[in-house]
Amino acid sequence: MIIRPRRLRQNRTLREMVRETNLSVKDLIYPLFVRHGRNLKEPISSMPGQYRFSVDTIVQEVIEAWDLGVPAVILFGLPDCKDAVGSKSYANDGIVQQAVSSIKAKLQEIVVMTDICLCEYTDHGHCGIIKEGKVDNDATLEILARQAVSHAKAGADFVAPSDMMDGRVAAIRNALDLAGFQDTGILSYAVKYASGFYGPFREAADSTPKFGDRSSYQMDPANALEALKEAILDMEEGADMIMVKPALAFLDIIRRVREECLLPLAAYNVSGEYAMVKSAQEKGWVDGDRIMMEILISIKRAGADLILTYFAKDAARLLNRNR
Ligand code: PBG
Repeated sequence: MIIRPRRLRQNRTLREMVRETNLSVKDLIYPLFVRHGRNLKEPISSMPGQYRFSVDTIVQEVIEAWDLGVPAVILFGLPDCKDAVGSKSYANDGIVQQAVSSIKAKLQEIVVMTDICLCEYTDHGHCGIIKEGKVDNDATLEILARQAVSHAKAGADFVAPSDMMDGRVAAIRNALDLAGFQDTGILSYAVKYASGFYGPFREAADSTPKFGDRSSYQMDPANALEALKEAILDMEEGADMIMVKPALAFLDIIRRVREECLLPLAAYNVSGEYAMVKSAQEKGWVDGDRIMMEILISIKRAGADLILTYFAKDAARLLNRNR
């Protein structure tokens, strides 16, 4: 007798019945870049199909994503000017603050998340305040907390700190609670590696550090136990959800964090992962849609509940078609 696993692969209906992992449009979070100006939809050359939107056009884009079934967006701001402490990051009329309130005015139900970090807002491009040539952890916490409160004021449902300073989840939670935003959630970029896969994003957001790199705050890609430590710390500090980033070269980390942590787990399918697919597709070397779905399902299979991905709209279209 031969044991015949192929019996379960005979036709599509059967295959779908025994499928172990399902990707839903409800798992997707769509990252978007917002800049000053009007009626702008500026292509990002390193990320084909992605744009820098002005506040008016981002509202349209968010409505489109919502209509495709995408439940959440995360916003990244491109300020009109930068300084040493990133003061535009917490301005009440800052670009993310404007975008959040405009989106919420048109569409209440969509979950609006905002990236909390200084690198897009500082003239030196680091994610924190510089003191004596070093990124100063505790001085940065204050600014991050102000930024989070200003986003919450504008109507953000979740703030998502991506700076990797120690103690920032607790600092942000305290500041939000003190300001009366008990219901604003925190999605912590708990496990964020110092990665070359952020290259296209840094072009999009003009946030490349002017000196040095981010290895004194982002994690060493060789470390896995440290990922568990970071995840547990952020859980204890009061994060509502945590994230592993990047996703594709860190699927083992997603799995381990999933097994150790009780919170909803997100993974960030970052700009470099997106750009590799798009550029190979443009060359005709791969079927872009096919590997996109394969990548997204691999991230879910590894254990992520939610996926931040620039593919959100493309994947939603395919998922809706196959329903
Ligand atoms: C920092 C931040 C970065 C990304 C998200 N938040 C860049 C960095 O750490 O240099 C990268 C996202 C991506 O590559 O898609 N604000």
